[in-house]
Amino acid sequence: MHKKRGKNNPRLSQALLLSKTFLKILSIYYYSFTFENFEAKRERKMANQKKNFLEVLHGHKTDHIPFWFMRQAGRYLPEYRDLRSRAGGFLEMAYNPAIASEITLQPIRRFGMDAAIIFSDILVIPHALGQHLEFVTGEGPKLDPLRKTDDLSQLNFKNFESHLAPVYEAIQRTQSGLSQEGHHATALIGFAGAPWTVATYMIEGGGSKDFIHTKTWAYRDPEGFSQLIDLLVESTAHYLIKQIDAGAQTVQLFDSWAGALDPFGFRKWAIEPAKQIVKLVKNSHPHTPIIGFPRGAGQNYLAYAQETGVDALGLDTSIDTRWAARALQSQLPVQGNLDPICVLAGGDALTLAVEKIIGDLGEGSFIFNLGHGIHKDTPVEHVEMLVKLIREQG
Ligand code: CP3
Repeated sequence: MHKKRGKNNPRLSQALLLSKTFLKILSIYYYSFTFENFEAKRERKMANQKKNFLEVLHGHKTDHIPFWFMRQAGRYLPEYRDLRSRAGGFLEMAYNPAIASEITLQPIRRFGMDAAIIFSDILVIPHALGQHLEFVTGEGPKLDPLRKTDDLSQLNFKNFESHLAPVYEAIQRTQSGLSQEGHHATALIGFAGAPWTVATYMIEGGGSKDFIHTKTWAYRDPEGFSQLIDLLVESTAHYLIKQIDAGAQTVQLFDSWAGALDPFGFRKWAIEPAKQIVKLVKNSHPHTPIIGFPRGAGQNYLAYAQETGVDALGLDTSIDTRWAARALQSQLPVQGNLDPICVLAGGDALTLAVEKIIGDLGEGSFIFNLGHGIHKDTPVEHVEMLVKLIREQG
């Protein structure tokens, strides 16, 4: 009776149809939601799985020496060059989350490093603050130089968030990619340039040998120069926090030109800003390790280790590993420091250098790395040999 009545009543059947459709939509939504939840949980579980690289950063013992290489994603890899020739410019790739995450994964697929570093650049910060930036093939970065305090009014936070959103998305995608492709032991590193190093590019308008404009400004008008450094401290800390929010499990601060500073300048423009950034990042993420890399700092590495609050130190190639073991590694984990040109050269020199570094630092908290980025002309087979040597000895 009821059925019949329902069938014959157009209003009722319409209502029935509507509620059925509603239920269907609800269940699709429910299942996709729980599936997403399940996927997200699985990824989080994978991301939290024990990773030797993170264990070392937390000061724990591991059964092998973790390794990754600065600039491991880049031009020495044929698959990178291939993608680059199809994708257009470097910045187009860096701001495309799918491409940036693909490039980040390329070296991991080949070599299974213990850490992936997100494919981006330290100069996205000045770019996000409104400074013009382009990468000229064969010449490197070009920016419209800032030369005096008044020029700082050209910088602003108007488009900062939206400009950097693709980097955060690339980090999320890379975490998913690592998990989907089974690289459960590989951690993900976020990074930024330290204020001093980024300021040199902003002021010189590109690379420089003597940093004459930057240093002259800092010596003549430290107050005005401080305004730029303060702006960079604030934006860099914010940027690193957002990278961690997106899934970076540690962050590295690259102070590539710290070695150009005198001891007083080093305190003021390398140690102080790093200390402030560490404090700000730790306020939001107290347990995320921060690696400091004050390249070329020499003896100043000691003060940097003691005063900035970083959790680990990246050693450049010039640092004597026996000194580092005594003076630095006794205080915090270290990472480094094979000469990238030694990898390019290959052969016996490479074997000996790896033995020496592991012999001096392998007993303490140590992450094998280079002392600077891989050179673009490095044969891939030399990187393969290096990985084999580290695995055999570490
Ligand atoms: O390490 C990685 O694999 C992640 C990606 C990464 C890049 N740059 C990609 C890149 C990282 C961590 C950086 C850091 C960076 N960028 C630093 C600090 C470390 C260092 O090398 O001292 C500095 C100073 C820069 C600025 C920069 N970016 C310069 C001076 C150049 C031109 C010189 C060069 O090596 O080409 C770049 C370009 C750049 N950044 C490339 C890559 C892969 C080459 C782009 C290309 O032409 O394909």
